[in-house]
Amino acid sequence: MDYEAWVENKIAELRRQVGESTALNALSGGVDSSVVTVLGHRALGDRLKTVFIDNALMREGEPQRVVSLFDQMQIPVECVDAKKTFLDALAGLTDPEEKRCAITETFYKTVFGDLVRNSGAKFLLHGTILTDIEETVAGIKRQHNILAQMGIDPQEAYGYHVLEPLADLRKDGVRGVARILGLPAELSERIPFPGPALATRIVGEVTPERLATVRTATAIVEEELADTGAFQYMAVLLADKATGIRDGQREFGEIVVVRCIDSIDAREATPVELPWDVLHRLCKRVTSIPGVNRCLYDLTPKPPATIEYV
Ligand code: XMP
Repeated sequence: MDYEAWVENKIAELRRQVGESTALNALSGGVDSSVVTVLGHRALGDRLKTVFIDNALMREGEPQRVVSLFDQMQIPVECVDAKKTFLDALAGLTDPEEKRCAITETFYKTVFGDLVRNSGAKFLLHGTILTDIEETVAGIKRQHNILAQMGIDPQEAYGYHVLEPLADLRKDGVRGVARILGLPAELSERIPFPGPALATRIVGEVTPERLATVRTATAIVEEELADTGAFQYMAVLLADKATGIRDGQREFGEIVVVRCIDSIDAREATPVELPWDVLHRLCKRVTSIPGVNRCLYDLTPKPPATIEYV
């Protein structure tokens, strides 16, 4: 694929679509939203306002890291604290689709609705990619960023138009565009991270305590597996508990799953055969998190599993 030509076409298209209006986009720090941010700024300059929504579901140190990386590219990013709004919307929910639905509604209706009304922007630029659309349409799972295919007209429901410049690309294509746009490797080669963030890695209720556990486990897994070159690796907190022993006492503790997979475009995935010493080190570190007394390694390919757990 000719990425240079793709970029030129998209820039022209975005300029045509937005005209003299202004647009907003949410940057999560993942590859897709990072590419949309740089592409959007090339096309629209300061008529595009980029926000980082702190939804309480992000990885350790993520808000500061993302803002600082874009600052180095002279792209201003405003951090919006929406932690309480998201946690309140997720409280008490355990069904995976209900959790995804709550995140979508909170994102597009409550948080963006307010931002758009306050800024006067007419457009929201989105990092939706082809795989997100295909999986939602196939009924596998409702991706947080899919609206039209779910019968939602954003203009009618939320009061703004949504533009999806990456909707004809899969993950490998997005990385190709990222390199052409000159994004630092830290962003262009970053492992995928879903929009609903750590909520896709907590089976059962999302609470601040359970988020803290999966966030610490995620930091350990990302550090230990950074050199594997795998497509994606993650930590997942299960809803079940298991009996264990801590300091000579019985403990009914949390179970964390480690997943590390290879894939080209996230449509199919195979587990990576990690060496035993790496698995043992992971297990030792993960079970040192307070309250966690089991660490499992997931051997399931996609299909039949999906990559995320929720
Ligand atoms: P699944 O779990 O469907 O994941 O096999 C396929 C790829 O997509 C990512 N993913 C998402 N990305 N919004 C996103 O932006 C979502 O709702 C979402 N769900 C999954 C996942 O991390 C994997 O790379």
